[in-house]
Amino acid sequence: MEEHLTVGRVAELAAVSVRTLHHYDEIGLVPASARTAAGYRAYSADDVERLREVLAYRRLGFGLGEIADLVDGPTADAVAHLRRLRGLLVEQRDRTAAMVTAIDRELEARALGIRTTPEEQLKVFGAQLYEVIGSAYPATRRTEPRIATRIWDALGDARTVLNVGAGTGSYEPPDRDVTAVEPSAVMRAQRPAGAAPCVAADAGRLPFADRSFDAAMAVSTVHHWPDPLAGLREMRRVARRVVVFTYDASTAGWLQRFWLTRDYLPEFAGLLADRPSLADMTRAIGGRAEPVPVPWDCADGFFEAHWRRPEAYLDEQVRRAVSVWTRVGPAAEQRAVNGLREDLASGRWAERNRDLVALDAAELGLRLLVA
Ligand SMILES: C[S@@+](CC[C@H](N)C(=O)[O-])C[C@H]1O[C@@H](n2cnc3c(N)ncnc32)[C@H](O)[C@@H]1O
Repeated sequence: MEEHLTVGRVAELAAVSVRTLHHYDEIGLVPASARTAAGYRAYSADDVERLREVLAYRRLGFGLGEIADLVDGPTADAVAHLRRLRGLLVEQRDRTAAMVTAIDRELEARALGIRTTPEEQLKVFGAQLYEVIGSAYPATRRTEPRIATRIWDALGDARTVLNVGAGTGSYEPPDRDVTAVEPSAVMRAQRPAGAAPCVAADAGRLPFADRSFDAAMAVSTVHHWPDPLAGLREMRRVARRVVVFTYDASTAGWLQRFWLTRDYLPEFAGLLADRPSLADMTRAIGGRAEPVPVPWDCADGFFEAHWRRPEAYLDEQVRRAVSVWTRVGPAAEQRAVNGLREDLASGRWAERNRDLVALDAAELGLRLLVA
């Protein structure tokens, strides 16, 4: 007969109370599959494995109801569970490490009698995002050739190009003299060998003289800047031509336009709050906005990229390379993914989005600003 651990022993090993284990058993979250001769609960290896998952999700801050959905979901495979847990824990660890560093810096500053500004104090909750999620980026984020062509055409005959918020450099034109700006060390470290030189700086304060480049470009980054308009004005200052790939967050229909945000992730709306309008952004560079349809087989795995390949959003790797999923938080993410999974299995997604199958490209609010 398979070896079982008594409830007391499991409680001791896991550092939880026997009462907690009784409760988990009673609500069916971690049932003890056997009893000892004396009638005590006894746990098999499978029971312990399930308990380990439950406790790890608990530690990540999930509620018991959410955990029940997670451990009973279709990802029954233990390795898949471990991978997902690992990803969530690493993310939490990195976020905590970034906060510890920021607090250390503030302590040092205070010891020197320097008071940090409210902005600096709050920065720890936002600006470190790519230090946390950046390592997952290269798995699915790469050059989409049709979008690259639009960007490179818009650069015109510019010979020297500044790429702001450059990340791993997916859209840097190979035939021009490029200088990259990227504040995240994690992202800079992932730039391929031979990539353009990269300066650690912030879009809001570009360390270059006025008009030092023929053109400045920024791709999928403006929404991360604490003050997007200030950054766009900086690009305008240092370059004669400006090309920005971004999205139109201002039209009322934005949330409705994409089934993912409309039907599964309404929390996305919260991320758009206090983003500048497209009109304000084009005004900041003195240019025009052109729509950029997203091809159905878009090679760059940004948030909207898989609009005709909904199963992709069930893939943890796809989600981890897109900041939206981290920014809405794990509870909203899991709810959205579970809802989508169910609708894909039941045919509800296909029914609701019947008209998408015939499209080769979709207008999802992405824009190229050119000045
Ligand atoms: C979605 S990635 C895009 C990277 C690259 N442009 C691309 O298209 O692959 C966003 C990038 O913006 C950078 N970023 C965030 N805040 C920034 C800021 N204040 N100034 C400049 N870049 C910033 C991030 O570190 C990250 O590398």
